[in-house]
Amino acid sequence: MRFETLAIHAGERPDATFGAISVPIYQTSTFVFEDVGKTKGYDYSRTANPTRKVLEDTIAQLEEGKAGFAFATGMAAEATVMHLLKAGDHVISGDDVYGGTYRLFQNVMCDFGLEFTFLRMDSRRTIEEAIKPNTKMLWLETPSNPLLNIVDVEMVVDIAKKRNILTVMDNTFATPYFLRPIEYGVDLVVHSTTKYLNGHCDVVGGVVVTTTDELTERVQFLLNAMGTCASPFDCWLVLRGIETLPVRMKQHEQNAIAVANYLAGHPGVKRVFYPGLESHPGHEIAKRQMRGFGGVVSFELKGGTERVNTFLKRTKVFSLAESLGGVFSLVDHPATMTHASMPKEHREKVGITEELIRLSVGLENIDDLIDDLRQARAPS
Ligand SMILES: Cc1ncc(COP(=O)(O)O)c(C=O)c1O
Repeated sequence: MRFETLAIHAGERPDATFGAISVPIYQTSTFVFEDVGKTKGYDYSRTANPTRKVLEDTIAQLEEGKAGFAFATGMAAEATVMHLLKAGDHVISGDDVYGGTYRLFQNVMCDFGLEFTFLRMDSRRTIEEAIKPNTKMLWLETPSNPLLNIVDVEMVVDIAKKRNILTVMDNTFATPYFLRPIEYGVDLVVHSTTKYLNGHCDVVGGVVVTTTDELTERVQFLLNAMGTCASPFDCWLVLRGIETLPVRMKQHEQNAIAVANYLAGHPGVKRVFYPGLESHPGHEIAKRQMRGFGGVVSFELKGGTERVNTFLKRTKVFSLAESLGGVFSLVDHPATMTHASMPKEHREKVGITEELIRLSVGLENIDDLIDDLRQARAPS
């Protein structure tokens, strides 16, 4: 089956008990045993739950992986993955990853004896030079949040495979509709399902997709041992979102291209970051490895922070809020919002300036979105 069909039919659908076409929400903590030592396949919802299982099977098929696991949040998924490692291990991560990912690595996992190097993943040499005998994981995010930098996934996987290093990719921005990291040999895929997979800003969640029996067993063990799983109702909301993922992603992208072109032609805009623009340094790689460029556009306004603050206060259709990937258009100021947890020096080093604004372009009428950006910028 093809992507659009899998998004609607993967997993046990219709439900085996009564034939419900919409996946039932098994809102239960526990399952009654048939006999001593005999269950109907489920015993306790932390370990596994039938609603969660449909979501897990769906995302595994969409990412073309071995198995999927659903978590309470994207960060719960990431925290669980980091527990595949042990004290003394070294991780190389993109330097412009989501602020919460940076915080998890730098302010939490470091205290458990993991060591991190953050770098721009755009050169084979830089990555190879950073590898140490204890390097166990390469963490990538592409397009990155909020700068939309593009990592050549094939190149990073090639470096990692030669040295037996695990590769993990945060595929939240592209979604499997536009990019399937496992096709390029990535070992583990993580998502914040809070974003495009759910798509309606009404849930926080995460998933991990594995590629080997060993990783599947280990992630299942950690999810159960750490209790980081998603609730049945949240899984149902994400499942419902995934059913329309292909049509939503197409429209997000179409609107984002129009917004990026509008901003690129505006004299008040200093720089636009969108991999779909030919001027973007990662455009050629993005064109090769992705099926579309996504729905997030970042840009810098001319005129300093005062101008930026005025813009942020004035938008009406774009709501000033964290998160992205929903039907609602959102505007974010990374320096004070999503990436405030990154130290200022690190933000400045990687290029997240005070003038940077991130737009999650939603599914409203494109003319209303452009009008909103125009009126928020005026008077120039
Ligand atoms: C790329 C990326 N990864 C992970 C996360 C964390 O996900 P959650 O907020 O669901 O914990 C986010 C949240 O913004 C994100 O943008």
